[in-house]
Amino acid sequence: MLACQRHLFDIPDDVAYLNCAYMSPLLKSALEAGTAGLVRKTHPWQLTADQFFTGSEEFRATAAQFFACPTDCVAIVPSASYGIETAARNLPVRKGQSILVLDEQFPSNYYPWQRLAEKNGATLKVVPWPNDEDWTTAILNALTPEVAIAALPHVHWTSGGRLDLARIGQACRNLSAALALDLTQSLGALPFDVSIVQPDFAVAACYKWLLGPYSTGVLYVAPSWHNGSPLEEGWIQRANSQDFSSLILYCEEYDAGARRFDMGERSNFALLPAAVRAMRQLLEWKIAEISETCGALNRQLAGPARELGFHAPEEPLRAPHYLCLRTKAAIPRELMQILARENIFVSVRGSSIRVSPHVYNTSEDCDRLIACLRQIA
Ligand SMILES: Cc1ncc(COP(=O)(O)O)c(C=O)c1O
Repeated sequence: MLACQRHLFDIPDDVAYLNCAYMSPLLKSALEAGTAGLVRKTHPWQLTADQFFTGSEEFRATAAQFFACPTDCVAIVPSASYGIETAARNLPVRKGQSILVLDEQFPSNYYPWQRLAEKNGATLKVVPWPNDEDWTTAILNALTPEVAIAALPHVHWTSGGRLDLARIGQACRNLSAALALDLTQSLGALPFDVSIVQPDFAVAACYKWLLGPYSTGVLYVAPSWHNGSPLEEGWIQRANSQDFSSLILYCEEYDAGARRFDMGERSNFALLPAAVRAMRQLLEWKIAEISETCGALNRQLAGPARELGFHAPEEPLRAPHYLCLRTKAAIPRELMQILARENIFVSVRGSSIRVSPHVYNTSEDCDRLIACLRQIA
């Protein structure tokens, strides 16, 4: 378990920020790296051609460590939507086949598949919310031979349910179904390894558990798709892009590996250094340790919350870093006011309170939240 790392962030003592699943705070060091990058734009004459590539490659190589994949398999994207859309552009599905998604799946990992299914005469197959909170079994049961693509998360964003992607990946391969993953609510907080799961595509937005700035994302593309179609046909994704003097000698060939899937203007001089700094810090802490530390904070909350009438899936069906507390009744409006007054930040949605701590949280933060829940119990 990690000691509290709050000193590395700019979080006032009276703020209990338990909402990483919404938007992580930026590390002070990441802010510094990003600011230095932004300042570069004040002196563009100092910007060299190779800097369009070095920063991107640093980002790519660092991101690859979260997937445990070669650098060549990572594309730089602005969002989860962009990565899912890239997968939908490339994965085939025919009339009569289906695309598997989950009940209440995040829209960025739903709409592209709905559109693809419509276009190709396929259907969306929605796995219903399992009464026993066991998403893995529900998914394995739903993986029948007509499924062409399984489009899934690692952690279900409104339940905290954790999917056993090793088993699901194997089941997909048995059926020759493709696997496209949205890891936005898990990458950086749960260990992940492409050699075990073997997805076709896997994306994560960086602004949550990767502690990065908004509008940065990482996309894993399996080698078998490296000849696929990117969403954009820009100059920097082509094999001749490093030679600025001959860009109009149009080049059919793309840059190596997954680089063809990079977004336009991917060499973001401000955001990429901040994202790299954040990812390096996460790697220094170690993902397993982060998971354990967040898990301990959530366990501290789950017990007293249960006594107050809230329920949440138990680990290992629930991801350690992600706790959605549900009640039978709707959450009283009053709770929002109490939380605001106390500077406590969580996500309240309908009959659920989503709590997502990180290494900057303390057990006092958890106690303060429980004290507020007591007031409405
Ligand atoms: C599961 C999940 N995926 C993706 C996103 C973000 O999507 P995008 O990067 O397309 O804005 C969120 C944001 O809440 C999310 O919870």
